[in-house]
Amino acid sequence: MDKIRKAVIPVAGLGTRFLPATKAQPKEMLPLVDKPVIQHVVEEAIHAGIENIVLVTGRGKQAIENHFDVAYELEETLDRRGRTEDLRLVQEITHLGQFSYVRQGEPLGLGHAVLCARHAVGEMPFALLLGDDVFDEADPALGALIAAYEATGKSVVGVQEVPESHVSRYGIVNPAASGSATWWDVTRIVEKPAPAVAPSRWAVVGRYVLLPEVFAHLAILKPGVGGEYQLTDALMEMAAEGRLVAAPIPARRFDTGDKLDYLKANVEFALKREDLRAPFQAYLEGLVKKF
Ligand code: UTP
Repeated sequence: MDKIRKAVIPVAGLGTRFLPATKAQPKEMLPLVDKPVIQHVVEEAIHAGIENIVLVTGRGKQAIENHFDVAYELEETLDRRGRTEDLRLVQEITHLGQFSYVRQGEPLGLGHAVLCARHAVGEMPFALLLGDDVFDEADPALGALIAAYEATGKSVVGVQEVPESHVSRYGIVNPAASGSATWWDVTRIVEKPAPAVAPSRWAVVGRYVLLPEVFAHLAILKPGVGGEYQLTDALMEMAAEGRLVAAPIPARRFDTGDKLDYLKANVEFALKREDLRAPFQAYLEGLVKKF
């Protein structure tokens, strides 16, 4: 079985839910405390054994390419000033993995973004991580999917149970036959169902392991909901062919493209930081008394 060594991370979306912050900067560069969202995602991939990262970028996303590239003037200045720790922090980003970039000319949807990476991926299974979904670093997110791929040899969607009132925001899969499965066969995915007709509360969230056969399905997609080429439409066909499993992700997830979730992520990541926890906690406790 081929090892998963490549990851595709699409970052070409417009980020309209986060306007005006995203008018001239990518939402994937918004920081969680002091580290951009996209760096958290890349580090999760590297932690799961990925060596090559293919970023699908678009207009106005150069800040992401610069972030993972050498920053010569900054590095030279930090070196000259003896700021060794800052220099190490800046340089280690460049060495996280092997980076390559493909462009998505127009943001025509997630399915189209993945198809843009076809030649960069080749005939190998690969991981797909959405560039604005962040999981708590302490838990394995992508790792749970890779384990399911290694157990089944099939493509995998990462799933999490969401409240009934949220099922209409996601693709929802059929539940596992037994309660404690680490993976199960997907026989159905329903895109953004009304709660009354949802097959479960198991939502497809931003992590996938995909076999190269997905590209053949993506290549013949017709535009779906909102005129966009939907990855879910290709996944539905793979499910119908018995080629897709779901793996629950046992980690706290934040959709940082959503303003409320972004704020929550910043608070929780700050509270985990040794250097910030005590003063920030004191500040929050003061706020609670005040309001
Ligand atoms: P989202 O649907 O969350 O991104 O896609 P969006 O379209 O930028 O967001 P809103 O709804 O307008 O706020 C999830 C990921 O897929 C990428 C996005 O950059 C994001 O990281 N994406 C989405 C693409 O690369 N291309 C697309 O055409 C759409």
